[in-house]
Amino acid sequence: MAKIIFVDHDGTKHEVEASVGSNVMQAAVDNNIEGIDGDCGGMCACATCHVTVDPEWFAKTGARSENEESMLTFLPEIAETARLGCQIEITDELDGLVVHLPIEQF
Ligand code: FES
Repeated sequence: MAKIIFVDHDGTKHEVEASVGSNVMQAAVDNNIEGIDGDCGGMCACATCHVTVDPEWFAKTGARSENEESMLTFLPEIAETARLGCQIEITDELDGLVVHLPIEQF
């Protein structure tokens, strides 16, 4: 298990335990974190799992795939550390990961 910390746009933190091998979107959905919809079920086809990774953690989340990059371009704004939650696999190395939630998904 790994601890994932979701931070609302108002700064409220939600800590959840996520299974290694799962992903950030699934951890949010399983724990009823508001702001992550995951409409496509993790197929990298909807961008409703968009998060901004805390800069200290961004490098550990790995590189965006070409498909993920493409999906992110549909968002009105893309932070430098934006990722799709479903494309961040939970690993032991990500224990303590901090991701920021958008005000709303588009
Ligand atoms: S759940 Fe659809 S792109 Fe992540």
